[in-house]
Amino acid sequence: CLDSYYVSDELGFILPEPLVELPPYYQPWMDVAVRVPDLVQSHELRSHIYKMPLLSSEFLQKHRELRLAHLALSVMTMGYVWQEGEKGTVEILPRNLAVPYWEVSQRLGFPPIFTHADGVLANWKKKDPQGPFDMENLELLVSLPGGDSVRGFFMVTLLVELAAVPALRSIPTVINGVRCGETEAVARALEVISQSIQDMTDTLKLMQVHVEPSVFYGIMRIYLSGWKDNSSMPKGLIYEGVQAEPMEFSGGSAAQSSLLHCFDELLGVKHEEKSGAFLTRMRNYMPPAHKKLIQDISLQPSLRSFVQQQANEQLNQAFHLCVTKLLALRNYHINVVSRFITVPAARARQIRNQSQDLQCETISRAPIALEERGTGGSGIMIFLKTVRDKTKDAFLLEK
Ligand code: ALA
Repeated sequence: CLDSYYVSDELGFILPEPLVELPPYYQPWMDVAVRVPDLVQSHELRSHIYKMPLLSSEFLQKHRELRLAHLALSVMTMGYVWQEGEKGTVEILPRNLAVPYWEVSQRLGFPPIFTHADGVLANWKKKDPQGPFDMENLELLVSLPGGDSVRGFFMVTLLVELAAVPALRSIPTVINGVRCGETEAVARALEVISQSIQDMTDTLKLMQVHVEPSVFYGIMRIYLSGWKDNSSMPKGLIYEGVQAEPMEFSGGSAAQSSLLHCFDELLGVKHEEKSGAFLTRMRNYMPPAHKKLIQDISLQPSLRSFVQQQANEQLNQAFHLCVTKLLALRNYHINVVSRFITVPAARARQIRNQSQDLQCETISRAPIALEERGTGGSGIMIFLKTVRDKTKDAFLLEK
């Protein structure tokens, strides 16, 4: 049963009905958090954060309160660290931010940095509560610099999570079917999963409609990046009042979404060492219940062996289709990354080598440290292509 993993029947890994307000005691946080884009733009965020009172985290009780607190503290932290760009970073996160952020993170079980669980899963609200869960009727609770492209980036990612819900719901059916030897039930569930993965790819196509590559590349990305595997923050970050030594945490990454981890474990995709290590590490950036679901899927009897043993045409085809769709999703993701990162990066390099007058273009403001890297710190294209290629190994060879 998915409930016990904090996975909702209707929304999957998406946090159902995120709170939009914290208890009044925490108003000083929310007042700053909702203004992060403006305060960064006017270079005033750091000074507002210095003036914030040090609040105790003990009046946060429910899971959804902790999630909203983590989200609010996360956008403030990203804005604080990156307000002056990659050359104007800081070494210390002040205690009035760092101490409660650390405590809230400990209680939630994921790190004190902006994650997919914050910006996507817990950062939404319906404008009309009775209206649909779609682009027009959804809004963000808090944002980062980059205007409508930030909204587009997080919302499209949220809709991809939604498109995956039928697949998630079918995972227990597959697992039970394998256990009980129900060939047809497994085949049917795999057909649902492949359709759902197809829907994820189709939804991802909306990224082009709602996100402007120059804004994404030139403005947004730095605010998603972290202080691990990042040459502009080589020492990490000191969380003042928590511990004296700096700590390193990776920035946001699609690898923090639990979806593809679940599918890989179910279908038996085995990753190469380095990319596998990155993916495994990213599981620590998920809510622990979601990480547990991935682990529990990995402990089940092998679906691939079952498909091989049954030698049933419908089952073979359904399994093959699932791997095909997963591969297509990963190929499309690579396509998105070239459009939003590789192409603008080439343009930015060209501008740097050319005349001064071009240097006011949005993309030339992009951080150099993120040219070849994802905001999560991976060597982005090599990583994505290795992961894609290992997905191909999951195909069962014809006998
Ligand atoms: N991980 C994505 C990037 O590298 C967000 O920009």
